[in-house]
Amino acid sequence: MSDNLTLPKWEIIHGDALSLLRSYPAGSFDAIITDPPYASGGRTQAEKNKSTAQKYSSMGENAPPAFDGDAKDQRSFTSWCAEWLSECRRIAKPGAPLCVFIDWRQLPSLTDAIQWAGWIWRGTAVWDKGNSRPQKGRFRAQAEYIAWGSNGDMPISRPVPCLPGVFKYGNPQNRIHLTEKPLQLMRDIVRITEPGGRILDPFAGSGTTVLAAVQEGYSATGFEMSEEYTARAVERIEKELAP
Ligand SMILES: C[S@@+](CC[C@H](N)C(=O)[O-])C[C@H]1O[C@@H](n2cnc3c(N)ncnc32)[C@H](O)[C@@H]1O
Repeated sequence: MSDNLTLPKWEIIHGDALSLLRSYPAGSFDAIITDPPYASGGRTQAEKNKSTAQKYSSMGENAPPAFDGDAKDQRSFTSWCAEWLSECRRIAKPGAPLCVFIDWRQLPSLTDAIQWAGWIWRGTAVWDKGNSRPQKGRFRAQAEYIAWGSNGDMPISRPVPCLPGVFKYGNPQNRIHLTEKPLQLMRDIVRITEPGGRILDPFAGSGTTVLAAVQEGYSATGFEMSEEYTARAVERIEKELAP
C-alpha cells in the first residue's frame, strides 16, 4: 500500500477512520490533511447531543444529511483525537506535514492531542469565512483554524513555496455536505505537501480535500464513515474530474 504506483490516483474508502488507519503500513502518506467532526456547536452536553443538521445548518428539512461522531465531551474528544492522530503519524512519512481544521472552542484540545500523538505542532493558520452572525458587544466568530505541524523535522529545503497564514474564502454555495470546506481553500492548503505526494484525509465528508489534491497534481485517499457521504464524494469527484 505504501507504493504510490500501485494505488489509484484517488479513492474514497467507506469505514471508520481508526480501523482503516490501523490497516496501513508505516510511512504510507506524504501528508495528512483533514477536517474531523469538531464535537463543538454547543455549550452543554444536551446541546452537543443534537444532530449535526440542527447544530450546523439553518436549512431545516433541506439541510444535507447529518453525520456521526460529533457529540463527544471534552475529555473524549481530546483522547479520540490523540488516538487517530497517533495512527496518522505512524502511517505518515518522516517530515510529512499535518493540517487539521478546528474551531475556537476545540483549538486547545486539538493542539494538545497533536502533541500528545507525537507530532510537532508548528502553528495555526486562519480560515477567514468573512460572514458570520453579528453579535452586539462581541467579536464575530468569523474564523476557523488550521492547526498544523509535522512528523518530526521538516527541512526548509523541501520543494514547497512560501504559503500564506490567512485564507479568506466564503462558505461554498449549494453545499452537498453540512460542513463542506471551500474547494479553493483546500487547493491552497494541500500545497504544503511536496509535489506529487499522496495525501490522506481520514474524515473526507464530501471529498473536498481529495478533489483539491488531485486538481493540484497530488494523489489522495479519503476515509468516510457515512455511506451517504461516501457516495456523494465519489459522485462529485468523478463528475469534476471527468474529461
Ligand atoms: C467536518 S466533516 C468533513 C467535511 C469535508 N471537509 C468536506 O469538505 O466535505 C467530518 C466528516 O467525518 C465523518 N466521520 C465522523 N466520524 C468518522 C470516523 N470515525 N471515521 C471516518 N469518518 C468519520 C463524518 O461523517 C463527516 O462527513
